[in-house]
Amino acid sequence: MSTTTNTLNAAASGSFSIGGELPVHRLGFGAMRLTGDGIFGPPKDRKECLAVLRRAIELGVNLIDTAESYGPHVSEELIAEALHPYPKDLVIATKGGLDRPGPNRWDPNGKPARLREELEGSLRRLRLDRIDLWQLHRIDPAVPEDEQFGAIVRFREEGKIRCVGLSEVTVEQIARARRHFPVASVQNRYNLADREWEAVLDYCERENIAFIPWFPLQTGKLADPAGDLAGVAKRHKATPSKVALAWLLWRSPVMLPIPGTSKVRHLEENVAAAGLRIPAGELEEL
Ligand SMILES: NC(=O)c1ccc[n+]([C@@H]2O[C@H](COP(=O)([O-])OP(=O)(O)OC[C@H]3O[C@@H](n4cnc5c(N)ncnc54)[C@H](OP(=O)(O)O)[C@@H]3O)[C@@H](O)[C@H]2O)c1
Repeated sequence: MSTTTNTLNAAASGSFSIGGELPVHRLGFGAMRLTGDGIFGPPKDRKECLAVLRRAIELGVNLIDTAESYGPHVSEELIAEALHPYPKDLVIATKGGLDRPGPNRWDPNGKPARLREELEGSLRRLRLDRIDLWQLHRIDPAVPEDEQFGAIVRFREEGKIRCVGLSEVTVEQIARARRHFPVASVQNRYNLADREWEAVLDYCERENIAFIPWFPLQTGKLADPAGDLAGVAKRHKATPSKVALAWLLWRSPVMLPIPGTSKVRHLEENVAAAGLRIPAGELEEL
């Protein structure tokens, strides 16, 4: 039998301490969808996006993932507008390392001067002196890895970032980065239907590194009421999106899902997954 806790709160997903120094509730929020089409420009319904951010905090979410490139700048600006001055326990994780020449275009740019420019911009927009978790959005294949990692070392020494994360990386890349700085989190594409990065997740679990799966709902496909999860969802009086998120939370104690939405209704549904308990046998089958 499944059970759902009565209170709608991200705390029901349990906690994880990112880098051993940033405790968060495991179910977070991804702020990429608070932008226009192609993750470019302002969102269609700005008011609703601000409400999503405020409601996330009310529901106990204390990990918000964003990036300089979302909009660009739009997502970070909305976060500051909705939430500054920030609650003490809120961890804002942002990223740098991608240029945005237009909608749906993402060009890696790991030149140290550009990374610095992005970091300074994020600090300004988020109205922070230091970023709690700064993630290299992509390792740029056109720039020597050591130059990109070296820039991050300097940002840490200057006190501008606290913990460092990587995104879309292999185990070998994580290991090489760890020669320069502790890697606190890894953000790779991962969900119930897409397990390409299973080996990276297992590595993160062994090393107690936060694993932040992006596309946790497979961009909404896993929320389809007529999709593969419909049966399990019905049995547990849940929705497919809740099942997909409950599965991620069950899959590993280092898993920190950050489902993205621009709607309060969907946010509430996703946070409810934190309290959904499905027997392990059924989750294993999925
Ligand atoms: N590191 C990277 O390279 C990278 C890449 C992509 C994303 N990310 C991060 O990962 C986060 C999550 O990824 P994502 O937002 O792209 O994909 P996702 O969480 O898998 O899915 C988001 C999509 O699903 C819809 N959705 C959300 N909740 C729903 C619900 N309960 N029922 C029905 N539909 C629902 C949303 O539409 P509505 O707005 O209509 O709810 C949105 O279109 C992003 O916000 C971003 O922070 C990182």
